[in-house]
Amino acid sequence: MVVLRTGPVAVGGVTLGNHLILAAGVLGTTGASLSRMLARGAGGVVTKSIGPEPKNGHAGPCVAVLDNGILNAMGLPNPSQDFTGELGSLGQKPVIVSIFGGTPEEFAEVAGWFKGTAAGFELNLSCPHAEGYGAAIGVDPVLVEACTRAVSTLGMPTWVKLTPNVTDITAIGKAAERGGATAIVAINTVKAMRISTALRRPVLGNRYGGLSGDAIFPVAVRCVYELFESCKIPIIGCGGVSTADKVVEMMMAGAQAVEIGSAVQRDIGIFETITNELYAKKGIEPGEIVGCAHE
Ligand code: FUM
Repeated sequence: MVVLRTGPVAVGGVTLGNHLILAAGVLGTTGASLSRMLARGAGGVVTKSIGPEPKNGHAGPCVAVLDNGILNAMGLPNPSQDFTGELGSLGQKPVIVSIFGGTPEEFAEVAGWFKGTAAGFELNLSCPHAEGYGAAIGVDPVLVEACTRAVSTLGMPTWVKLTPNVTDITAIGKAAERGGATAIVAINTVKAMRISTALRRPVLGNRYGGLSGDAIFPVAVRCVYELFESCKIPIIGCGGVSTADKVVEMMMAGAQAVEIGSAVQRDIGIFETITNELYAKKGIEPGEIVGCAHE
C-alpha cells in the first residue's frame, strides 16, 4: 500500500495536522468531543451544522444502522448561536464550523458569529432531507453561488459540501468556485429510505433520509473524480472512507484531504488506526498521488 510522508497539510485555506478530518455531524456537537477527536488523530474537525435558529430536528426514529451503512434524518438539530460557547477551549485548532441557512443573508449571519474563532467554514448545501435548507438550495447553481459568495466575502476559508443527488455535480462545484469557495467537499449523504416489513411503515420518522458509510464510497469516488476534471479549487473527499487504502483511493481520484464520518460510529479510534497505516517519516510526497488516476 502507498505510505505518505508525515506532516501538516494545507487545504482550502486551513492547515490540518494530517489529511484526515472528522466529518460534520459526527461527534461534532460539543467542544469536548471535537477536542477528543483531534487528540485521537484527526488532522481537523468539522462541527455539527449550525443554523440561524435553534432546531430540535425531525421526529424519531432518526437513525437506522444498516449492514453496509447508516441511514439518518436528524433534521439539522442544533443550538444555533449558543454553539459559539463550545469553541472557546479549542483555541487555534483546525476546527471548521459547518453552517446552514435558507438564504445567502442567513449564511452570512451565522458565519459572522464564528468569525475569529473558526479556522474556516463548511457550507451545508447538501443535507437531503431538510425543507428549505441543504440540498433544497444546493441543487441550484445560482443559489449555491450566492450563498457561497455571502460567506466567502468575510475573508475566511470557505468550503462547500455538495450533494450527490443531482444530475451533474460539476455544475454545482463550478458554482461554488465562482462564489469564492476555497474548497469543495464531496459528498454529503445519498437520499434514501428503508421500510420496516413488520411495521409496514418507513423506518425513519421523516420517511426519507441520507445514506452514508461503506455503501456510498463508489459514489463519492466518482463525484471526486468528476469534480477534479472540472474545478480548479481543492477537493476534499467524503463518503464511506473507513480504511487507509480508501483514503489513498480518494486521493488518487483527486482529493487533497478526506473526511471520515460513519466509520467513527463503528470505531472511535479510526483516526489512530488509519494514521498508523497511512503515514511514515520516509513516506512519499502526498502530492504525487493526488489525481494520479487521471493521468
Ligand atoms: O439531519 C441532519 O442533521 C443531517 C445533516 C446532513 O446530512 O447534512
